[in-house]
Amino acid sequence: MQLNRRKLFFGESQATMKHRKNNNLSVFVVVFSIFLFGVFMYNEDVKSIAEFPFSSRPNKEAKETNPVQETVKETNPVQETIQNDEESSVSVSSRTSLEEPQEVEQKVELPVLIEDDDDQEVDLPPEDCDLFTGQWVFDNETHPLYKEEECEFLTAQVTCLRNGRKDSLYQNWKWQPNDCSLPKFKARLLLEKLRNKRLMFVGDSLNRNQWESMICLVQSVVPPGRKSLNKTGSLAVFRIEDYNATVEFYWAPFLVESNSDDPNMHSILNRIIMPESINKHGQNWKNVDYLIFNTYIWWMNTFSMKVLRGSFDEGATEYDEIERPVAYARVLKTWSKWVEQNVDPNRTTVFFGSTSPLHIKSLDWENPDGIKCALETTPITNLSMPLNVGTDRRLFVVASNVTRSMKVPVHFINITTLSEYRKDGHTAVYTIRQGKMLTPEQQADPATYADCIHWCLPGVPDTWNEFLYTRIIART
Ligand SMILES: *[C@@H]1O[C@H](CO)[C@@H](O)[C@H](O)[C@H]1NC(C)=O
Ligand SMILES: *[C@@H]1O[C@H](CO)[C@@H](O)[C@H](O)[C@H]1NC(C)=O
Ligand SMILES: *[C@@H]1O[C@H](CO)[C@@H](O)[C@H](O)[C@H]1NC(C)=O
Ligand SMILES: *[C@@H]1O[C@H](CO)[C@@H](O)[C@H](O)[C@H]1NC(C)=O
Ligand SMILES: *[C@@H]1O[C@H](CO)[C@@H](O)[C@H](O)[C@H]1NC(C)=O
Ligand SMILES: *[C@@H]1O[C@H](CO)[C@@H](O)[C@H](O)[C@H]1NC(C)=O
Ligand SMILES: *[C@@H]1O[C@H](CO)[C@@H](O)[C@H](O)[C@H]1NC(C)=O
Repeated sequence: MQLNRRKLFFGESQATMKHRKNNNLSVFVVVFSIFLFGVFMYNEDVKSIAEFPFSSRPNKEAKETNPVQETVKETNPVQETIQNDEESSVSVSSRTSLEEPQEVEQKVELPVLIEDDDDQEVDLPPEDCDLFTGQWVFDNETHPLYKEEECEFLTAQVTCLRNGRKDSLYQNWKWQPNDCSLPKFKARLLLEKLRNKRLMFVGDSLNRNQWESMICLVQSVVPPGRKSLNKTGSLAVFRIEDYNATVEFYWAPFLVESNSDDPNMHSILNRIIMPESINKHGQNWKNVDYLIFNTYIWWMNTFSMKVLRGSFDEGATEYDEIERPVAYARVLKTWSKWVEQNVDPNRTTVFFGSTSPLHIKSLDWENPDGIKCALETTPITNLSMPLNVGTDRRLFVVASNVTRSMKVPVHFINITTLSEYRKDGHTAVYTIRQGKMLTPEQQADPATYADCIHWCLPGVPDTWNEFLYTRIIART
């Protein structure tokens, strides 16, 4: 029973669900459901399921993406054309060959559970499957995982459609690992795992980006008035009453103490860190059940990092300039020591998010007509194109090494390469700048104003959270 071995069951919740549903489901539907469920559970002949009509999908053609490109062309007087073989070659024709048996099964579930995704059963990828090597496939049936206008908690920084972005294909890509599939996202299943628990993102604005995504992923199944957002100082807490669960974000862009720690006033050009100083922040991370760390973008302003001699508290102002990767290694050593000394691995699961890439030079993906990331509407799908978008891989390697060699297990969420393909996913000019929406004049000048660091939501960070989801639901 290869398939059964990989299933998760939550008998309790399922029983609850049935009680509720019996009221409005006819006996026939129940019997039919049980029959189908039985077939689905015990039929090992996946091929017969594969012929079920629900498993077929329209074969999308590359030209279907062109209308969006036209729109972009019309609304961007700056740009005469974005004709580009790479872009128009976006094709999903290889999708069928990628389909995994698991996916086919999910299709079969549809007629059984018409109302919602309450059934708490999901196919987990094998533990040793490399989730991060694969490709983006167009899939507007399952993605986006939520709608921009249905998540009231999104900030204006990331609501690209509301801010005027005309194309929306960037929401429709699913990450497909080569050797397995990510489990279907089920908010209730995740919330059940988070019951009586705290989940906290710690780091910079990219981690905040991912935190907003996580809120949207879970909030849709929580009724109004049973959820709240409280931002106090460096900590923002999203509370889900019915589950006594929180999804939190703690601002610490360098993880260690720095002069950029004020959550509101941190437009500091002269960034200075104290690489051995972490407890002031760290005391806020104790007794959290899921910790997701990152630090990258704040390192990228200058080639060297300014390291304080002494302490801010003592009024020190002198600093040394240290090579970026050297300072980064010092910080991650401090961080790993903190984790080893303060995290009980029996209680807490620790993640470290790898570097989130920037897309600021369109020649990096061979688009001479591009303006930073601003005119991109599709991901890079040509995987044989050597891709270098300027990510500082030295920092990636340090993070990968440090997390691998720790006594407390740390899940390294290797999002860098897969996000490098997503030149289309950034907020570009459909965002805010220093708290204010870009004016039409600024929007018309992407070369100056496009933000090719942060990501639209729904979008790429949802996939990063799908990796967290996969690990969280896999732990029993
Ligand atoms: C990260 O993932 C990429 C593919 O997305 C892979 O090529 C690379 O080896 C991975 N690196 C680590 C350290 O896991
Ligand atoms: C998905 O995309 C196809 C092709 O672009 C389109 O025909 C279909 O209407 C889309 N479906 C949804 C739900 O958006
Ligand atoms: C609610 O969750 C917190 C952790 O977030 C936990 O300490 C507390 O015991 C929980 N309350 C109940 C009633 O389980
Ligand atoms: C928000 O959190 C702070 C700190 O925990 C608390 O003092 C305050 O009462 C909370 N505000 C609301 C509206 O819950
Ligand atoms: C974790 O649990 C195991 C088994 O229950 C126990 O042997 C071990 O000492 C625990 N570790 C910590 C750090 O509490
Ligand atoms: C993919 O990229 C490679 C290397 O840049 C190039 O030779 C090839 O023509 C590209 N393929 C397509 C379909 O654009
Ligand atoms: C990272 O680990 C690899 C393999 O163990 C090693 O060769 C390399 O020197 C390490 N790099 C850094 C920056 O620690």
